[in-house]
Amino acid sequence: MLQRPRRNRLTSTIRNLVQENYLQVSSLIQPLFLVPGENKKLEIKSLPGIFRFSEDLLLEEIGACMAVGVQTFLIFPAIPEELKDKGASYSYSKDNFYLKAARNIKKKFPSSCIISDVAMDPYSIDGHDGWVEDGQILNDKTLPVLAKMAAAQAEAGFDMIGPSDMMDGRIQYIREYLDIEGYTNTGIMAYTAKYASAFYGPFRDALDSAPKAGDKKTYQMNPANLQEALKEAHLDISEGADVIMVKPALHYLDVIHLLKTNTNIPIAAYHVSGECAMLIAAAQNGWLDRQKAIEETLMGIKRAGADIIITYFAREYAEKVALMK
Ligand code: PBG
Repeated sequence: MLQRPRRNRLTSTIRNLVQENYLQVSSLIQPLFLVPGENKKLEIKSLPGIFRFSEDLLLEEIGACMAVGVQTFLIFPAIPEELKDKGASYSYSKDNFYLKAARNIKKKFPSSCIISDVAMDPYSIDGHDGWVEDGQILNDKTLPVLAKMAAAQAEAGFDMIGPSDMMDGRIQYIREYLDIEGYTNTGIMAYTAKYASAFYGPFRDALDSAPKAGDKKTYQMNPANLQEALKEAHLDISEGADVIMVKPALHYLDVIHLLKTNTNIPIAAYHVSGECAMLIAAAQNGWLDRQKAIEETLMGIKRAGADIIITYFAREYAEKVALMK
């Protein structure tokens, strides 16, 4: 036998020597949920171990993440029902609790990178990412709302803006608006290939942001489509995105790979709430080794071509898995 692949697996030193891919804590993003008020730490029932925090406790959570090397955060607000309206106006109302928290995070942790969420759903009585009229999601009527929301977030100090709404033309619309308002240094992480997925359930529980009627299939992508992701990627890049994202991650590894090999800007992959919930549930039942499963999952996403991984396990990976090595 001339080739014995097992020779390269003989000892852990040799295995490490020939390892092809590495996962760095600096490439991980921790999503965080913010609620109004003080001293609140509310567990998300469908995502055990993940919490919604009021600003004071969110700052502590960010401190704990920063201490183990997780420095980048996607922050989502849970908006009380009475602050929601048709046009998501609370999203750009001055000093809303989300914008105020962003200011305080950057004040306390200047070296952190905080990324916003731009979409109407958390603020809208309809629970859709765009403006709803007669059951239709109106693309062009949504764009100015997104731009105002993005500018308010840039003003509050978010390092990057994260449009997650999947409206057509919104990256260019937002980029131009930010530039005119003077926020030329605020980046855009575009939710580029965001699929109409069943795996966002726990997230919608966390924010109470599920659509009141209908589904999101007229703006989020059909899970059956691959080439369309490349079309969206080329559009978002030409419209000024700094980072493009594939979401969900685990069930869309081929999409991550396709975008990585066909574009030249950083690719983020969002290991979404439902994908994390499956692993948590299996581990709770003793069916999987939690830490090993997390490590293999994140490595799979990395190997597919993700430069950046957004995962609810970022802090845990940094604390437990990375330290074990
Ligand atoms: C909404 C938004 C969603 C997620 C991020 N931004 C849910 C949706 O589109 O309904 C999902 C993230 C997750 O499931 O972890 N703009």
